[in-house]
Amino acid sequence: MTEEIKRFLDPSGGAGEDDTSLRPLSLGEFVGQDKLKEKLSIFIQAARQRGESLDHCLFYGPPGLGKTTLASIIAREMGGQLRVTTGPALEKTGDLAAILSNLEPNDVLFIDEIHRLPSNVEEILYPGMEDFSLHIIVGKGPLANNICLTLPKFTLVGATTRLGLLTSPLRARFGIVEQLSLYDETELAGIVARGAKVLGITLQKEAAVEIARRSRGTPRVALRLLRRVRDVSEVRGNGPVDGAVAITALEMLGLDSNGLDEGDRRILRIIVDLFDGGPVGLSTLGAALNEEVQTIEDIYEPYLIQKGFLERTPRGRKATRNAWLYLGKTPPAEKMEQWQLQFSEEE
Ligand SMILES: Nc1ncnc2c1ncn2[C@@H]1O[C@H](COP(=O)(O)OP(=O)(O)O)[C@@H](O)[C@H]1O
Ligand SMILES: [Mg+2]
Repeated sequence: MTEEIKRFLDPSGGAGEDDTSLRPLSLGEFVGQDKLKEKLSIFIQAARQRGESLDHCLFYGPPGLGKTTLASIIAREMGGQLRVTTGPALEKTGDLAAILSNLEPNDVLFIDEIHRLPSNVEEILYPGMEDFSLHIIVGKGPLANNICLTLPKFTLVGATTRLGLLTSPLRARFGIVEQLSLYDETELAGIVARGAKVLGITLQKEAAVEIARRSRGTPRVALRLLRRVRDVSEVRGNGPVDGAVAITALEMLGLDSNGLDEGDRRILRIIVDLFDGGPVGLSTLGAALNEEVQTIEDIYEPYLIQKGFLERTPRGRKATRNAWLYLGKTPPAEKMEQWQLQFSEEE
């Protein structure tokens, strides 16, 4: 598949990709995830009433759904600063110790990709999370000294796309564990409309809906498509962005009305044409597509499953009836029926 397409629909953001001006500043501005928001706002209010820091939070779910945004909202609502780092960036225990010892009360320490924290660094975090203390060893050999520092009451917010890769002792130390799920079209249209307002784009409602429909349930993708639609309308259109301008722009990007791109269609075609609709094992599929298994699992599969084009079975991936129809082909069960019908007519 081409780099071009990958860039448009890849839910993971590159460095500096997210426009921080588009980031909601409060839970009130954060669209969707209503149950999560309700719980979180109660927990925040309760912590503030008690004059305590908020319990440590773990957010998990696919990239681009608002985990980092929630961390910054929590910091703001708790009146602390947001400190951002990632699991793989904390290579040595000293890296984490330096960050922890510089925290102020009510600060939020956000660790993205927390499942990639090295195990020795993770162990430093346990007493830090549990009783806000930092144990460090100074010096070596017989002169080594065990020092214990008291940390201010902070909130650790961890984010991960793979909850299953977190060790259980780490997971057990989070008081609040919440999953973020894909957004529906109405929510995404709301996010697009809000983004257009912030960016000063006059966008009609139908245009927001067309963008939302092709955003794979992901705010980051929706906002990226909004910016590309703006480009096209600035060069080709005149006046406000309406549904027709949006559709033209989105089709130019290779996206159909289901929000599938060339990469998605290729996966479905290979399962149907090469493997008779499946089931086919993920690694076989990866080899046929010349694509990493991880990429298929993280980027393509969730959306193809959500849209009802792909099924996960114990024996592998299977194209659904809808996938056959989408490719303009007769599903195998119906082919069989047609044969049987033909056969009985001949008798
Ligand atoms: N619920 C939401 N409402 C409005 N904008 C959102 C929402 N969730 C995410 N966004 C926007 O989408 C982009 C990606 O969000 P981010 O928090 O970085 O996702 P994650 O950390 O889960 O990958 C950001 O620009 C953010 O402002
Ligand atoms: Mg993030």
